[in-house]
Amino acid sequence: MSMTPKALMAEAVKARRRAYAPYSRFPVGAALLAKDGRVFHGCNVENVSFGLTICAERNAVWQAVSQGVTEFAAIAVTARDGRGAPPCGSCRQVLHEFAPNAWVYWRDARGRILKRRLAELLPSAFRLEELRGR
Ligand code: THU
Repeated sequence: MSMTPKALMAEAVKARRRAYAPYSRFPVGAALLAKDGRVFHGCNVENVSFGLTICAERNAVWQAVSQGVTEFAAIAVTARDGRGAPPCGSCRQVLHEFAPNAWVYWRDARGRILKRRLAELLPSAFRLEELRGR
């Protein structure tokens, strides 16, 4: 399950090639590293009805969960060079469902890889425990 941030980011770059982003022209790629070592790709898929657009990160989660994988170690996200792409709030909530301790890697505008634990990016998250009253 170990993979360097740089190697996982290289997978995110591959995933980005499949982005469908004719409206924003902001292609995004994500590579989700499962604890079993598998890597799931996701890209953003936009729609003419703009609100139906799905982000790269959530798409990667759907891919993994659809294949029975729900334990994740890390996710890397990238937009084009020179554009930062920290995961949006909705994606943080979806990732938190499965992997609050996962590492999140993204690049800043200068191309440096930044890394944070998901729980740092979404403090005081709404969780299943809240629903159950504990
Ligand atoms: N987008 C992502 O795929 N991930 C993010 O974390 C931020 C935004 C996509 C959605 C939309 O297709 C485009 O980037 C511009 O917002």
